[in-house]
Amino acid sequence: MPRRFAILVTGGAGFIGSHACKALHQAGYLPVTVDNLTTGHADAVKWGPLVHADVRNAAALKDAIKNHGIKAVMHFAASAYVGESMARPAFYYDNNAGGMISLINACLDTGVDKVVFSSSCATYGSPEGGPIREDTPQAPINPYGRSKLMCEEMLHDCSAAHGLRFAALRYFNAAGADPEGDLSERHDPETHLLPLALQATSGRRGPLQVFGTDYPTRDGSCERDYIHVSDLARGHVLAADYLAEGGASTALNLGSGTGHTIFEVLETIRSVTGKTVPHDLAPRRAGDPPSLTADPRLAQQTLGFRTERSRLDQIIRDAAPSFGLAAAREDRHGRHAAE
Ligand SMILES: NC(=O)c1ccc[n+]([C@@H]2O[C@H](COP(=O)([O-])OP(=O)(O)OC[C@H]3O[C@@H](n4cnc5c(N)ncnc54)[C@H](O)[C@@H]3O)[C@@H](O)[C@H]2O)c1
Repeated sequence: MPRRFAILVTGGAGFIGSHACKALHQAGYLPVTVDNLTTGHADAVKWGPLVHADVRNAAALKDAIKNHGIKAVMHFAASAYVGESMARPAFYYDNNAGGMISLINACLDTGVDKVVFSSSCATYGSPEGGPIREDTPQAPINPYGRSKLMCEEMLHDCSAAHGLRFAALRYFNAAGADPEGDLSERHDPETHLLPLALQATSGRRGPLQVFGTDYPTRDGSCERDYIHVSDLARGHVLAADYLAEGGASTALNLGSGTGHTIFEVLETIRSVTGKTVPHDLAPRRAGDPPSLTADPRLAQQTLGFRTERSRLDQIIRDAAPSFGLAAAREDRHGRHAAE
């Protein structure tokens, strides 16, 4: 396949960024990772060079852009723990908003005019009602979400003033792992439900804490929209293609459009792995919205993006091996049989 062009991938050593690098490579782009390896892993950078640098260092970004003939940027690098953002807000504004300022300056100084940005459903806060559309008011409820909204606003202003074009991709809950086993989710500490539940199932940690059983949902537990990380990665390639073809700046939800409660996730893990997830019931945790589900239609219309592996049981089947769990075989009716 002819090489399209080189893309700077900040945070390319992290969970989603590394999957995006694989998808970019498969689509003919050269991913050039810039990562400070605070939460990422050098051995996850397999499809292009790794520049070990901090995104707040604009000079290092400019060097990487010039040295590799970069034409577009995907900006994943950020701190992404909601709880930590409440304990260390200044650090979150520095790393996330400060990183974005540095990146925008590097782009403006070098003439890079296309940015795909990792935004988040956390920018919506805790909206009432059904699936979240992109025009749902953004009212984040923690410093992490506010730092992501600030980044979107910076991009918006610089798009108007300087002709920078961007796609802000508001992900819902990224989960799963590369189906070919090349990559997986390796956060430390881990805060995401699915890896925590799979670790509890495999005995790598104690019982999972289920926070809150009295939410106004089907079974009282929180409801979230899980999107397979490989689908997310493909969405980024489509966004890069869209901007390369002259697409206008946009903000798009990337989600499956289907919500699953925590108890539904636990039951699906049981049906896929044949093992019960040890769990304890705990009171609600401050700041957890009852339900967050994407309306995914705008990304379908704008990018032609449709999820392919984001059925919950598929996400779990792909993630399970990296936690030492075997997934049961599926019969032709979609039922799981023990291996
Ligand atoms: N995981 C999710 O469900 C989810 C949902 C919505 C949005 N996001 C966003 O997606 C992006 C990627 O998330 P992830 O789950 O892959 O996280 P991750 O922690 O695995 O990846 C982040 C990467 O950025 C790097 N990094 C952090 N600060 C940096 C800095 N100042 N300079 C250089 N590198 C730096 C880390 O070392 C890491 O490799 C983040 O921006 C996050 O806010 C994630």
